Amino acid sequence: MVKKIKVAILISGRGSNMKALIDACRDINFPAEIAMVISNKHDALGLNYAQQNNILTAIIDHKKFYSRQQFEEAIDQEITKCGIDIICLAGFMRVLSPWFVEKFQGRLINIHPSLLPEFKGANAVADALNSGAKISGCTTHFVSVDVDSGEIIMQAQVDILSNDDFNSLAQKILVQEHIIYPQTLKKICKKILQQN
Ligand code: GRF
Repeated sequence: MVKKIKVAILISGRGSNMKALIDACRDINFPAEIAMVISNKHDALGLNYAQQNNILTAIIDHKKFYSRQQFEEAIDQEITKCGIDIICLAGFMRVLSPWFVEKFQGRLINIHPSLLPEFKGANAVADALNSGAKISGCTTHFVSVDVDSGEIIMQAQVDILSNDDFNSLAQKILVQEHIIYPQTLKKICKKILQQN
């Protein structure tokens, strides 16, 4: 059997990228297992899918902590308890502090709905549409202290057509996200396994 890298996914909402990662890991030859899903929101939809798939879930509500670092220490504790090797952010809507980012440097991955470095930030799809750009897409990258600025791992491109609106563009990009995020995880896990 293939050796598996243990992955935690951090979500805040819908969790469609989380689902794509969970589904990819069903393949016995995929070099990762999703060992836990952490949400900062108790009503994140993605939690249901994780639980239905017998994945350990934890809700760590940032509002219950006095500081960002205390919130992140609680995440760190769960991750350490579970022996997690890699963290995938999948629609996790909290900016992580330098303390957390540096602690997990090279092991913390995010997906963003634009062709970075174009359209950083929370409104990437709308910004691409409003800019008049003819292409956009999505990017997986290592998380760095500066938001949406870490080393790029993979990208996929989509055309922006004259009849695209926010929903159609977001949907086209999402389809690509669900392809490149599992590919990215596979690539990073294989690399780690080769190094060990
Ligand atoms: C995705 O568009 C992702 O690129 C961005 O947040 C969205 C999360 O969607 N970071 P989902 O929760 O994975 O469905």
